[in-house]
This record gives sequence, C-alpha cells and structure tokens, in this order.
Amino acid sequence: MTTLKPSCATFLLCLFFFIAFPSLVSSQACKSSCGEIPLKYPFGTGPGCGDPRFQQYVSCNQEKLSFTTHTGCYPVTSIDYSQQVMYISDPSMSTCACTQSSKGFGLDWDAPFSFHDDTVFTLLDCSTTSSPIFQINGYDGDNSSKVLRCDTTGAPICSFLYTCRAISLLNLPISTCCVYTPVDLGPSFEMDLQKLKCTAYAGFYSFSGQESNPENWKYGIALKYKFNVYNDYPTSCANCERSGGACGYGGVYNSLVCNCPNGFNTTSDCLFGSSFNQISRLLPWQTGNWPMYALGYFILWTL
Ligand SMILES: *[C@@H]1O[C@H](CO)[C@@H](O)[C@H](O)[C@H]1NC(C)=O
Ligand SMILES: *[C@@H]1O[C@H](CO)[C@@H](O)[C@H](O)[C@H]1NC(C)=O
Repeated sequence: MTTLKPSCATFLLCLFFFIAFPSLVSSQACKSSCGEIPLKYPFGTGPGCGDPRFQQYVSCNQEKLSFTTHTGCYPVTSIDYSQQVMYISDPSMSTCACTQSSKGFGLDWDAPFSFHDDTVFTLLDCSTTSSPIFQINGYDGDNSSKVLRCDTTGAPICSFLYTCRAISLLNLPISTCCVYTPVDLGPSFEMDLQKLKCTAYAGFYSFSGQESNPENWKYGIALKYKFNVYNDYPTSCANCERSGGACGYGGVYNSLVCNCPNGFNTTSDCLFGSSFNQISRLLPWQTGNWPMYALGYFILWTL
C-alpha cells in the first residue's frame, strides 16, 4: 500500500497538470527568429511580440520578415543589433545587374525608423527638361538658400553606375542621373519618382571598399531605429532573451512580458525558479479553471 500510493499520486498529478495546464504543451507565441533572421527586441514575429511601436511595421509571415510602409512591402535582409540598423531590399529598385522602373520609396512619417547616413539614393533616367530636381530657379524664400537636390560631389557615383552593362545599354546621358540629397527624403519622407520625373532609382549603403566597382556595392536601404527616446535596451528584455525567451507585451497596461519556449509568459525570465513563481501567481486568474484547481489541491491533500 505504501509503495503503491506515490506512483498512483504521481499519475494523478501528471493527469491533473495535463488537463489544467494545456498551455504547458502549447508552443511559444513569440519566436526568437523569422526564417534565417534572429529576432530580438524591439522586433517580434507578430501581434503581442516585440515592441508595439514596431509591430505594425515589421512582421513575420511564412518565415519571411518584411517591412511595410505606405509605398509597399519590403523584405528585410538583415538586422545589425549592435549598430541598431535594419537592412531592407526593394524589389522595384535598380542595381548594377538590372534596371527597372519604380515608383520610388517612402517611409511613414510616424514610423520609428530613419535613414542611416550610409544610405545613398541615386535617381536614374530623370527628365533633364521637366524634372524639378534640375531646376536652378528653385529658390526657397530668399536667395541665400538655393535648393539643390542633387549632390554634385556625388557625380562619380553616377559615372560608375552608368558604366553598369544594364544601364549603359539604355544609352542615357549622364546628366539624367542625380545623387539625391534631401536627408530623410525631405519633409515628406518620400521619393516619389513620378513627381520627380525619373523612371528608376538605385539605393545602396556600402561601396564594399570598391567605389569604382558598382557590381559589388551593397544595394538596398539601411534604416536606423531606437528603442525609445533614451535608447535604453530594457534590462528585463535582455534577461528574458538570455534565458531563451522572446520579449512581448500584454496585460492591462500593455507592459513587457517574457514569452518562454514552453508557451508561458512571465514578467522576468524563463529560468525555472522565477517562472514557477509566476505560473503559480498568474495562472488561477488567467485560466479561471477553478474545478481543475480544486482537483489539484485535492490530489495534493490526499498525498
Ligand atoms: C503570452 O504572450 C503572448 C504575446 O503577448 C500571447 O500571444 C500569448 O497568448 C500569451 N500566452 C499565454 C499562455 O498567456
Ligand atoms: C534675389 O535676387 C534677385 C536678383 O538677383 C533680387 O532682385 C531679389 O531682390 C533677391 N531677393 C532677396 C529676398 O534677397
């Protein structure tokens, strides 16, 4: 009798845990990667994950991370967490290998991103007669602030780009190229190629150490981001990620939660001791599963 009782109780306890805590066997809601790209705060895989300010702009669909703005949806190529830079590509962008027409690119003014200083936008095949970027009479109130929208010191960039086979085949005069200067694309955060009377653009963020070899430039757009106004990485999030969890938000105050690999959410990290405390504290209210609790306490009591 004394040898049988513990195994019987263990069985009942296991049964109880499987019935009362179905979420114990459920999977993690917030993943720590999307396809090949590791995901850390402030990025997340979907609703409730990462930082709410970023969630509407960056999301993971079918293991593909994408960045959304009012001008389109762009694949995220990589994220440099130490420099806080996200690299994206634009399928409508021209490169040395291939030219194509594009409507341009724009950031949402309220998105928590800005262009990285290394990003260079080169407008291609612009109308030298009607494009506003070439109009010298673009005065901005007084004569001292003449608006120059093409960086003349960037002329070598145009020369190198126009040596690319895909571009040279079009036989365009070099005067149709412009290294666009407005920081963050001006007050509208937008490069509207139809308005600027250009047919294509190339964006890149590195010469890869070979300025004269446009084949090797890194094409794409580099965007900076900040965690918050003080740019602090939340300590609780660092601890959560170190213990295998993914940061998310939830609850009444939309506060930080740590989503652990076992599917549970804690307010600290996924190490056993603290998560057990969280489970016992949070669960009666989260599941509202009173009959199961009564059964659990009854089993423990019979031990
Ligand atoms: C944990 O939090 C995530 C993100 O907010 C949510 O989707 C998930 O349902 C939560 N899981 C539990 C068991 O409460
Ligand atoms: C700008 O220059 C023009 C001609 O050079 C002059 O007539 C005009 O008064 C100037 N305007 C201002 C605001 O300085």
